[in-house]
Amino acid sequence: MGTETLDFKTIKQILSGADSDENLFAEADRIRRSIYGDAVYLRGLIEISNHCKNNCYYCGIRADNTNLTRYRLDKDAIFDCCRKGYELGFRTFVLQGGEDPYFTDDRLCEIVSKIHECYPDCAVTLSVGERSRESYQRLFEAGARRYLLRHEAASEELYGVLHPSDMSLANRLRCLYDLKEIGYQVGAGLMVGAPGQTLDHLLEDIRFMEKLQPDMIGIGPYLRHADTPFGRSSAKCAQGLEKEQKLQLTIRLLAILRILFPYALIPSTTALGTIDPEGRALGLKAGANVIMPNLSPADAREKYAIYNNKLYTGAESAQGIALLRKQVEEAGYRIVTDIGDVKRKDSQ
Ligand code: 5AD
Repeated sequence: MGTETLDFKTIKQILSGADSDENLFAEADRIRRSIYGDAVYLRGLIEISNHCKNNCYYCGIRADNTNLTRYRLDKDAIFDCCRKGYELGFRTFVLQGGEDPYFTDDRLCEIVSKIHECYPDCAVTLSVGERSRESYQRLFEAGARRYLLRHEAASEELYGVLHPSDMSLANRLRCLYDLKEIGYQVGAGLMVGAPGQTLDHLLEDIRFMEKLQPDMIGIGPYLRHADTPFGRSSAKCAQGLEKEQKLQLTIRLLAILRILFPYALIPSTTALGTIDPEGRALGLKAGANVIMPNLSPADAREKYAIYNNKLYTGAESAQGIALLRKQVEEAGYRIVTDIGDVKRKDSQ
């Protein structure tokens, strides 16, 4: 199977499970190894705040969830995470959080520039949602170089099923293109098996990403959170796919993305590790080449519950790095701790 054979009809057939997964994963792995070898890049995830002004129907840290202890890390706590992470070998810090108005441009820029100054050999990645172009520009000037903002759904219709009417796909896309124009390495992505999502929606996501050409692509299975409208609903349409189906579909889509975006940095996500103990390893074997262990303080981790049963100890935590290294090696890959920038055709 060569890249040229991956037209949309074939992709749909693969996603529906009509073809051999073995061939698919072998092809994805071949492509990944031809560009990135057996390297698995580490990113230290720091969950800076679970306050959020939005009310996404799927997300556990949505504004209307009163069943959650809210927290935010101050700059010293964030910096502490970086210090520990640096000692452990991390060279990328991902500051992720809900859309928390406390993190004004001034506050966030101060934090970013301090990390950038103290760790010039590290990359600062932000994942703090939709902001103005000016804000993205200022954060870039402060030293942030990568930005993760999943588009969630490229279909207007599905975007509207997943989000309340005060959010819009148009603004999400505006943000992604602004980030790109400013010069960030940009990450897009989506949840697999979300309520209302069909294979045709996934094809739309792929089409959109072919236009955007993201440097990073984050996908993981949708997981229910009890204190959300989808989690509370007993309606069939609010459930999303069954567990096994979600796992299969996620790793098939991972492999397809590796084939279509050979140079992309693609994480084997926490959600994938949560849905199945082998999920992380399966993700790597299907073409993923990034893992994002959690560097957040222990008491923050359990509060950053975007879905139920989220992993945050063991190999999932930065402290469990030895265990993670072993798991990655058993899957046939090797953890590397360098900055791990995206490789591009033109930089070869
Ligand atoms: N299940 C899986 N992923 C989720 N996210 C948010 N809520 C859930 C959930 N219930 C994902 C979204 C978001 C990312 C940080 O986490 O895609 O962009």
